[in-house]
Amino acid sequence: MRVSVIGCGYLGAVHAAAMASIGHEVVGIDVDQRKIDALSKGEAPFFEPGLPEILTEGTQSGRLSFTTDISAAAGAAVHFIGVGTPQQAGGYAADLTYVNAAIDSLLPHLREGDIVAGKSTVPVGTAAELATRVSETGATLVWNPEFLREGWAVQDTIDPDRLVAGVPEGPDGERAADILREVYAPAVAKGTPFIVTDYATAELVKVSANAFLATKISFINAMAEIAEATGADVTELADAIGYDARIGRKFLGSGIGFGGGCLPKDIRAFAARAEELGRGESIKFLHEMDAINMRRRDRAVELVVNGLGGSVFGKKVAVLGAAFKPHSDDVRDSPALDVAVRLNGLGANVVVTDPQAIDNARRLHPQLTYVADRDETLRDADAVVLVTEWDEYRREMAPEHVSTLTHGRVVVDGRNGLDAAAWRAAGWSYYGMGRP
Ligand code: UDX
Repeated sequence: MRVSVIGCGYLGAVHAAAMASIGHEVVGIDVDQRKIDALSKGEAPFFEPGLPEILTEGTQSGRLSFTTDISAAAGAAVHFIGVGTPQQAGGYAADLTYVNAAIDSLLPHLREGDIVAGKSTVPVGTAAELATRVSETGATLVWNPEFLREGWAVQDTIDPDRLVAGVPEGPDGERAADILREVYAPAVAKGTPFIVTDYATAELVKVSANAFLATKISFINAMAEIAEATGADVTELADAIGYDARIGRKFLGSGIGFGGGCLPKDIRAFAARAEELGRGESIKFLHEMDAINMRRRDRAVELVVNGLGGSVFGKKVAVLGAAFKPHSDDVRDSPALDVAVRLNGLGANVVVTDPQAIDNARRLHPQLTYVADRDETLRDADAVVLVTEWDEYRREMAPEHVSTLTHGRVVVDGRNGLDAAAWRAAGWSYYGMGRP
């Protein structure tokens, strides 16, 4: 099938390459010339495991191309919209500027029977509004939310848990769903659930899934706060409740909480939209989840300050991690980087390392010192703070080895990823999040 993908960020670039890898003829379109130049050469503009391979394969086979020229979308049967919907400046609502601009620029190139498939995360009600504009050209709008996780984006796109298609009522909607089934043929053939529904449900599936995940993380972090007041261990608690299949252990990872380009902005936009709908009360708890989440960053800073005897001023603090989670170079609303910035603000000499995210972190916070090598970062540190649970910090960092490098023996485990007993046995003062 001929497919166009408008917007080549985290979502769109992966989607374009993944669609080519399952056999479609794909053109990826973006207004950012730098991004297009990189992608055209088969280079990923960000770190995403598996992406460089399918980009190279796609561009070399001729099935995958990239351009800034929107007219290249003409002739494609399906046009995916994968542009960003960031948080509005000065508010919590989603900024739909890029979605509207993408649709406006695409309209003149649509033909009768084309499918426009929205993948961006939008406030409920957006698709119904856009549909009017799209249908005037004889094309049909489908809302097809994306659930990919950064770090697993390629796999999540090619082999998703489920596919959701919000379609208009009637034969146009049925036809649109059939065409999407054809686009995702390999996943459909494997028996991947394919849910056909209305626009509002499709939009809500996405934001409610993210709200649920954020709630699960904040729930366990709320338990961490209670554990701190009682001497309990939240990681053992999470293991124990996680064995209940109704609860499940996934997303019960306690620590400095969630960040990134999606969860924080999506729950805020959801709350803002609910207010507009007169249903603010229904998801008021999301404000509480947000607040719990942000408090965990304060707690990590507090542990470092206490660990260093009440002040970090003039102390060298080695911060392990800058990305909002491992397997990513994304530092958007990264709790890790936030903790580093706060410690720096308290007068610590903060040195940050990360296997992938240093360049992005430096662009955002040039005031911090960045060192690529982990051991160089640790050298002469008064305290070690683990904030992104990369394997090189969690599994592959023996306390005995770290002791040969650092000055102090204080370790703050912002992701509860270290073996507390092993660190203590090696002479360290270990501080976890919600652990004794
Ligand atoms: C999320 C959703 O998982 C995905 O379905 C959606 O499409 C986009 O948003 P992503 O932003 O890639 O994906 O990250 P995710 O793996 O969900 O992690 C989000 C944040 O929560 C990270 O900062 C991570 O460190 C944190 N987290 C995750 C925890 O603190 N504890 C956990 O148990 C899991």
